[in-house]
Amino acid sequence: MKRLTEFDSLEYPGFAQAVIDWQRAHGRHSLPWQNTRDAYRVWLSEIMLQQTQVAAVLGYYARFLERFPTVQDLANAPIEDVMAHWSGLGYYTRARNLHACAIRVVRDYGGQFPADPALLADLPGIGRSTAAAITAFSNGTRAAILDGNVKRVFARVFGVEGYPGEKRIEDGLWRRAEALLPLEGMESYTQGLMDLGATLCTRSKPDCGRCPLQARCVAYATGRTEELPVRKPKKATPEKRADMLVVLHDGQVLLEQRPDSGIWGGLLSLPEAAGHVGIDVAHDGGIALAASLTSLGEAEEVQALLPLVHVFTHYKLHIHPHKVSLRERGATPERYVWVKLADVGEAALPAPVKKLLLDLARPSLF
Ligand code: ADE
Ligand code: SF4
Repeated sequence: MKRLTEFDSLEYPGFAQAVIDWQRAHGRHSLPWQNTRDAYRVWLSEIMLQQTQVAAVLGYYARFLERFPTVQDLANAPIEDVMAHWSGLGYYTRARNLHACAIRVVRDYGGQFPADPALLADLPGIGRSTAAAITAFSNGTRAAILDGNVKRVFARVFGVEGYPGEKRIEDGLWRRAEALLPLEGMESYTQGLMDLGATLCTRSKPDCGRCPLQARCVAYATGRTEELPVRKPKKATPEKRADMLVVLHDGQVLLEQRPDSGIWGGLLSLPEAAGHVGIDVAHDGGIALAASLTSLGEAEEVQALLPLVHVFTHYKLHIHPHKVSLRERGATPERYVWVKLADVGEAALPAPVKKLLLDLARPSLF
């Protein structure tokens, strides 16, 4: 039987060792926040790297350290100065938390970042994963990281079925992350997981050919690297209803100029029953029964047409058209036009409305 090394965990022999060997041979080694055990520098880099890629962080990190070389300098600086040095990095809550955290470290811990990840995670802007990364890099502490990249690697390697953003799945990943930790080599292991997620096990088209975890990767073995991690389940599309009036007189249809903004901005469309020009459609069980067209004229007949569904990116619109035939035409209000049914093909209408009107204009086959 193969002997375990200090770079192994008991539950997953070989996993951490493979990550560490790969990190030492192929990982990133000369980033400016590596090769230091200064918790201040490590902390600063981890906060900057939380939502920003390495290349974008490099310049900010150097300028920030030049202006605020120690946690005391940062704690004593006015927030405006901190914000100015963060300007352009984005996610500015990070900068406010950074300042608040520096003040706490100076006030509560005499300027020394606590070595216990649980205490670190209590400070502003430091979550469980960032706390673990800081202590792993600055002290070699055995604490598990689980950021977005690492979740992706684990979800693929272990073939995790379930959305990692879901509490139950995430808890399972944390347990696994803990069980995978090597007894030694935490810096290389932690950096290795980050580097794997950032460089090989990328969101799309992972480079499995170079991956040290390929032999134990469920997603690779089953050809599911594109399906894992499981994506966020889609919320049911909201549904809306629009009662549209197809007001007809003398072979013409009444159209409304829509406002410039919002859906179908600037297009012509059918007037909608809710809150429009003197048209008042009474509903009974969702069906328009009558329309009194005070300013437009007198309705001869109101007929519900077959509803149709139009799917937008963010919702589904159920269009309920009501055909209103006018006996007589009154004044045409502003923003309304009468268009010959024969001309609706050329009008600037939304696709579903145009289709509805073209179907209506086409002589029935029956
Ligand atoms: N992303 C988060 N932490 C990182 C680190 N220490 N090195 C590279 N990328 C990272
Ligand atoms: Fe990711 Fe491919 Fe490596 Fe699996 S084999 S961990 S999918 S890079």
